[in-house]
Amino acid sequence: MGTLAQRVESLSDSGIQSIPKEYVRPKEELANIGNIFEEEKKEGPEVPTIDLKEIESKDELVRGKCREKLRKAAEEWGVMHLVNHGIPDELLNRLKEAGAEFFSLPVEEKEKYANDQATGNVQGYGSKLANNASGQLEWEDYFFHLIFPEDKRDLSIWPKTPPHYTEVTSEYAKRLRVLASKILKALSLELGLEEGRLEKEVGGMEELLLQMKINYYPICPQPELALGVEAHTDISSLTFLLHNMVPGLQLFYQGKWVTAKCVPGSILMHIGDTIEILSNGKFKSILHRGLVNKEKVRISWAVFCEPPKEKIILKPLPELVTPTEPARFPPRTFAQHIHHKLFRKDQEEAAAAAAANSK
Ligand SMILES: [Fe+2]
Repeated sequence: MGTLAQRVESLSDSGIQSIPKEYVRPKEELANIGNIFEEEKKEGPEVPTIDLKEIESKDELVRGKCREKLRKAAEEWGVMHLVNHGIPDELLNRLKEAGAEFFSLPVEEKEKYANDQATGNVQGYGSKLANNASGQLEWEDYFFHLIFPEDKRDLSIWPKTPPHYTEVTSEYAKRLRVLASKILKALSLELGLEEGRLEKEVGGMEELLLQMKINYYPICPQPELALGVEAHTDISSLTFLLHNMVPGLQLFYQGKWVTAKCVPGSILMHIGDTIEILSNGKFKSILHRGLVNKEKVRISWAVFCEPPKEKIILKPLPELVTPTEPARFPPRTFAQHIHHKLFRKDQEEAAAAAAANSK
């Protein structure tokens, strides 16, 4: 028995002209939600693009220069477009086609994969359930499942349409896991640590979990009243994001919402809370959100690289804590960190962001 959730896709298909009140954002927030296509054209600060071509150069000097750019982006933005990341375009395209094909199935077909959040079965097809008194909802449906390590996957719940979904997604998972290691290695070195340190601290090959969430944002009749994803920071160590070239992602940078431009062939990467904590705040986990629009369906593929929930205590690495730079985060397991965020939601920053003037 599944919990009945309203699918946003069905709502969108019903032809309604105004959206139900649960999807309407609070008044303070409405002031800074604009038309995403207009927002995308605005001049101003831009999410950095990092070229990883030289990250494994034989020349240490060349490698070092590449790492330094990565470090600066991680310090200043905590988010970046990665190019020359080593994952072939052809594989990215096949992955995106497979996800789009699954979502093109009728809602009744997708319901066969419905998750059941009430019983803790979080993997599968889902939509947000209101979890607070305001009943606030987001304009998206999703498909969520663990994709790596291979022995922790449950292939029985993966989409069977299209038939090559499993093969393509497994290949992407493997390639992305390699990329995650490269990034963790470079960030470790830039923190003055031994190269395998961050990798080990987040669980290594056996314990770091790659969870994929395909986000499906249907056309919205009143996009300036809703959000596809509300403002949040990622709890992961790293998050890798692909999308179907429809803009939607905004980053809260220097007190303003900045729209990420679409960079062909790139993979967008977030530094998550886990790395922010381990680095004692040196690397940032940036607040971000997703806008929707009334013209085009947006689909994005997020892979969250998460440490195991209970096995590891996350805290600033002792080498990075000094008398002048005391620990900025208390020790917590990943599960405790999630709990903390649910109940004490970065209130100050979220409130400032909600009220921010986007002009
Ligand atoms: Fe996110």
